[in-house]
Amino acid sequence: MEQSNLPQQHYHIPALLPQTLEGLDIKPSGVYVDCTLGGGGHTRAILRLLDPAAGGRLLSFDQDCQAIERAEADGELAGNAAFTAVHGNFRYLRNFLRYYGVESVDGILADLGVSFHHFDDPGRGFSFRWDGPLDMRMNPQAEHSAATLLAEATPERLAEIFRLYGELPQARQIARAIERRRQQAPIATVEELLATVRPLISPRKEKKELAQVFQALRIEVNDEIAALRSLLEQALRALRPGGRLAVITYHSLEDRLVKNFMRTGNLEGRLEKDFYGRPLSPLRPVTSKAVTPDDEEIERNPRSRSAKLRVATRI
Ligand SMILES: C[S@@+](CC[C@H](N)C(=O)[O-])C[C@H]1O[C@@H](n2cnc3c(N)ncnc32)[C@H](O)[C@@H]1O
Repeated sequence: MEQSNLPQQHYHIPALLPQTLEGLDIKPSGVYVDCTLGGGGHTRAILRLLDPAAGGRLLSFDQDCQAIERAEADGELAGNAAFTAVHGNFRYLRNFLRYYGVESVDGILADLGVSFHHFDDPGRGFSFRWDGPLDMRMNPQAEHSAATLLAEATPERLAEIFRLYGELPQARQIARAIERRRQQAPIATVEELLATVRPLISPRKEKKELAQVFQALRIEVNDEIAALRSLLEQALRALRPGGRLAVITYHSLEDRLVKNFMRTGNLEGRLEKDFYGRPLSPLRPVTSKAVTPDDEEIERNPRSRSAKLRVATRI
């Protein structure tokens, strides 16, 4: 196990920052939402482009109270009249907007997943690199941790989670190994999970496959796919005509969902057409392909390597 050197590490380094700002097409007097505040990299950059005197406003959400507390203690953010930190899940976007008196917005950003801080904190159980409790909740007040999931999910559901969210070919064997092990003793720590799954992981691909095991559990614990689906539908209703939706994903399942939604305006990816066969979608993708980090960014910030940014305009 590695030693955590958390204090020296970054809380987060924002991915695809200039491309995201360009995609959002920020107007100084506009109203924006950053659904995923994290370390505030994107939030800070958006705020610098806003003019609070002209009505510019940014509401930044995070379900993790640590991200919110950190932003509230940061003079640049808390001292800016345009900024509001929202402690909540973006899946309830429109309820929160209503609460803050916001009818519609000019742009919405979601930079999905977890921040570096989550991976690098041994107490949160997001990484296989250090031992600790198998927690993995982004919102520490949420009901179910990864340990409860491993104790309670059926082997069939576990296999589905490792297959769908982890894209692991040995998903069923991993689920069976968990089932056998938990009949002897609970799997409550990172070490206990590693001891259970390691015999099924190919030594040549150890880091990659362990990361996939942990990613799969994290997506399930935080109900990330359902939250994204809800966000996309609500974003469509919250955006003003001409408003921009920018989403950065790190998983192919999420990217597919975002791509289809931005093309068709519905979660099924069903393209409606008018009488003349012209596409009828409430969204228009700004670029045909996802924007990805260049070599320089990947070198500077290796964790950005799987990032994919897609942007669409509300028609
Ligand atoms: C990749 S980080 C965002 C980093 C941020 N863009 C930056 O520049 O620092 C994702 C953040 O979103 C938060 N998050 C993930 N899913 C969420 C959800 N459904 N509702 C609210 N916050 C969420 C996580 O807690 C994490 O802090």
